[in-house]
Amino acid sequence: MYLLEAKGVRKSFGENCVLKGVDLTVEEGQVVSIIGPSGSGKSTLLRCLTQLERADEGAISICGRVMTTQENGKAVYSDAAALRQIMLDVGLVFQNFQLFPHWSVLRNLTDAQVRVLGRSRAEAEEVARDLLRKTKLSDKEASYPCQLSGGQQQRVAIARALAMSPKILFFDEPTSALDPELIGEILEVIRDLASQRMTMVIVTHEMTFAREISDRVLFLEQGSVLTFDTPEAVFNDTSNSRIQAFLSLLKK
Ligand SMILES: Nc1ncnc2c1ncn2[C@@H]1O[C@H](COP(=O)(O)OP(=O)(O)OP(=O)(O)O)[C@@H](O)[C@H]1O
Ligand SMILES: [Mg+2]
Repeated sequence: MYLLEAKGVRKSFGENCVLKGVDLTVEEGQVVSIIGPSGSGKSTLLRCLTQLERADEGAISICGRVMTTQENGKAVYSDAAALRQIMLDVGLVFQNFQLFPHWSVLRNLTDAQVRVLGRSRAEAEEVARDLLRKTKLSDKEASYPCQLSGGQQQRVAIARALAMSPKILFFDEPTSALDPELIGEILEVIRDLASQRMTMVIVTHEMTFAREISDRVLFLEQGSVLTFDTPEAVFNDTSNSRIQAFLSLLKK
């Protein structure tokens, strides 16, 4: 079963056509990495799929619910109630964590559970503490984000997303704001989630990681899908000069 189906997604900012008809499907339990040069539209694609940005065109369904249909050359969005429902199935982790700075770690993890999901405070705290254990942050529940390392903050952000019990989790460069020695701990958490068959879409510049963890890799270039295939096929395709050029640039 597909948890994400996107067809013909187009998005322009003024004259700048950033997404030129992107197709993407993600099956339940799959990990899909999105790679490609800076400015190729990776974040914009993620933002369109998670309702942070409105697509101009395209048909998008998430977890079996229709977000947009393509009608008369444009994307027609479902009503607000349906879109809210879809949001409940979607988790998002950003490059810069985006924790609430004036809240403790525990409050960062529990507030939306209570407010949005209607869980009791006790239930929300149980969920939060379980996730803090899994992300090795049990001793940090009373800390404020500014008292944590970047890697710890990002683990809190991942735990916060998971606390909402999403069916699909999106990451936009979850390690790119981190010092090299902190990257490993985040990749470890994501690896763990993959082994539990969490469905994930990950924009990343960590090619070794993408290759190791992904079921499919989507290579985006100037708003178009250059290839969408298994990691072996994408990374070993020596016949594709554009992919090879991109990969060799990263190795420098
Ligand atoms: N809100 C916006 N308003 C205007 N232009 C935008 C906006 N967001 C993105 N763009 C433009 O869209 C293009 C793609 O940007 P995007 O952030 O999606 O690239 P990216 O692949 O994520 O790059 P990076 O690897 O550097 O994060 C760029 O030319 C960017 O300037
Ligand atoms: Mg980006």
